[in-house]
Amino acid sequence: MKLTDKILQLKKDKKAVILAHNYQRPEIQDISDYVGDSIELSRKAMNEKEAEMIVFSAVDFMAESAAILNPEKKVLLPSLGARCPMAQMLTVDEIKRWKVLHPLLPVVLYVNTLASAKAYCDICCTSANAIEVIESLNAETVLFGPDRNLAEYVQKKTGKTIIPIPEWGFCPTHLLFQPEDVQILKTQYPDAVVMVHPECTIEMRNIADFVGSTSQMCRYARENNAKTVIVATEEGLLHRLRKDNPGKRFILAYEDAVCPNMKLNTLEKLYAALKEEKYVVTVPEPIAKKARKALEKMFEITN
Ligand code: 13P
Ligand code: SF4
Repeated sequence: MKLTDKILQLKKDKKAVILAHNYQRPEIQDISDYVGDSIELSRKAMNEKEAEMIVFSAVDFMAESAAILNPEKKVLLPSLGARCPMAQMLTVDEIKRWKVLHPLLPVVLYVNTLASAKAYCDICCTSANAIEVIESLNAETVLFGPDRNLAEYVQKKTGKTIIPIPEWGFCPTHLLFQPEDVQILKTQYPDAVVMVHPECTIEMRNIADFVGSTSQMCRYARENNAKTVIVATEEGLLHRLRKDNPGKRFILAYEDAVCPNMKLNTLEKLYAALKEEKYVVTVPEPIAKKARKALEKMFEITN
């Protein structure tokens, strides 16, 4: 029996659903029940009624959010080491330090944070709704973490003052993109449009035709007439883009733009996860309760 067939059989036997982020390996995307960006996956996990188990093929904070939003279900992360380094950059102590400095300011946290950090914020956001979330707040100045680039992007878009916490938070994968590499590609493909994730630097965002979350990029690519698209986000998204748009050409703006953490998940680990029901992601209820409030607030203002 092929490994993919074994996974599908086990999935059926154990009444599991497989959710995969847009950066997952092609073979994982192809076997999953749903592939999406972080807001879409959280929503799917929250609304999942049928399945008894959610296998979340992504990184730690996404699986944690699923466990927080759907505490009735067993949530599995196939690789224990699949941790987002950006999420590790904002500790509870750091949030508390900033709250002491600015006790009246709301704290908005990107979902790329650990549950323990989310428990100390007023509302969460993703790259798909950060502008909407900030605009919904009755405050002109906001504490925002941990991605400094997303903070700068939102500040420019909303005109509000966004204080990044920590001052230096970043995604190592998205920092790899450089405008010089895009300029070279543009000389080869002058009609190409450029899509950039907001975790990229301001220099990258300034040369973009479109800035958005991974699934927003999929929508833009589908609806845009351009035949060639230069993509500045993790390479996994190109599988979905190519699958959805067979007539179009997609070029990664930097050929080694890989998130090593996302790529720790493999078909073998997915199989082992289902078979041995590992690794179970749990969040202690006192933390989950506060983090859930911040996530639910986000869902209230975003569709
Ligand atoms: P999206 O929500 O755009 O999929 O982004 C998640 C992420 O981790 C980007 O690096
Ligand atoms: Fe984290 Fe960056 Fe990987 Fe996204 S691409 S999971 S932000 S390290």
